[in-house]
Amino acid sequence: PVVALVMAGGTGTRLYPASRSDRPKQFLSLGGVSGDDSLLQQTVSRVGFADEVYVSTGADHAERVRRDVPEAGVLVEPAAKDTGPALVYAAHRIREQVGECVLLCVPSDHLVAGAFESAAETALRGAVETEGLVAFGVEPSRPATGYGYIEPTDTESEWAEIEQFREKPDAETARRFVEQGFYWNAGLFAWTPESLLREARDSPLAPLVEALDESDPERGFRAVEAVSIDYAVMERTDDAYVVPADFEWDDVGAWDAIERVVERDDDGNAVLGDALLLDAEDNVVAADEETHVSTVGVEGLVVAAYDDRVLVVPKDDAQRVREVVAKLRERG
Ligand code: GDD
Ligand code: MG
Repeated sequence: PVVALVMAGGTGTRLYPASRSDRPKQFLSLGGVSGDDSLLQQTVSRVGFADEVYVSTGADHAERVRRDVPEAGVLVEPAAKDTGPALVYAAHRIREQVGECVLLCVPSDHLVAGAFESAAETALRGAVETEGLVAFGVEPSRPATGYGYIEPTDTESEWAEIEQFREKPDAETARRFVEQGFYWNAGLFAWTPESLLREARDSPLAPLVEALDESDPERGFRAVEAVSIDYAVMERTDDAYVVPADFEWDDVGAWDAIERVVERDDDGNAVLGDALLLDAEDNVVAADEETHVSTVGVEGLVVAAYDDRVLVVPKDDAQRVREVVAKLRERG
């Protein structure tokens, strides 16, 4: 059977203050960009063709997940250690519960449209036939530094062996990769539990795999470092393949993404919620239902107002919201 595994343990830091620790990005609908369903609910519907659907998350959000997507099984991780441990744990648990199967692992906080199911089917077939790890490659549109980059051995095959996988390169390297025709890694993967566990055994995730062999996940999560699957496994394995993602894809990573997913007004402003903009150009303005925002004569800004929080940042620095959240966490 095909089992979909939706990863929903992240925090979505860069969409602060819409995204907060008690309300991470996957639980937001992004103000009706695609109706009222949250990104998580949209994701679970999108993988509805799978025989079974599981959502993996931490204890903090398990209740919320059960309420929002009662049709999915929930896997609760002993600790939040990024996607590396989360995916190894999920593969182990699903193999116990379902037996032999192939997994489609999908982020819970992306916007996807178009021919998703057919690309997924190709990747799942590739995962079974190659017994390797299959990623999805998106045609890059800018030298983004927040993504993984994939160099395919060719662009003709249904699935091409991956020559090189590089997670979050610096700006200079990203520019070179885009020129050289690399893909972005979409963050979705297809593999069998056996394939992933085999590759993870030979990676920084080994302490977790070994503890799971001995049925001691708590010890495994204590012993393993927090690391994403991209650094821990995808950059190191030489048994990986890429399927072109010929569907529309946006990971809505930071506030500047909003202008790619909502229609802009005549002055280039992207607005979520209720706002009055005078002589304002190319801004992203977002607010919750209780809040009205006005701006006069500003250009290229993000203004986001949710709960009792306001964020103002130049659009070009939208990635730096991460730093704000880190500082706020330090303050406690
Ligand atoms: N269950 C679980 N546990 N899920 C997690 C955890 C965890 O500890 N940490 C993150 N996630 C979920 C997030 O909710 C998200 O849906 C997904 O895993 C990916 O995590 P991100 O933190 O959003 O990763 P990223 O955006 O920095 O990078 C990944 O995605 C990019 C594309 O959007 C990488 O795969 C990149 O290579 C890729 O380009
Ligand atoms: Mg992400």
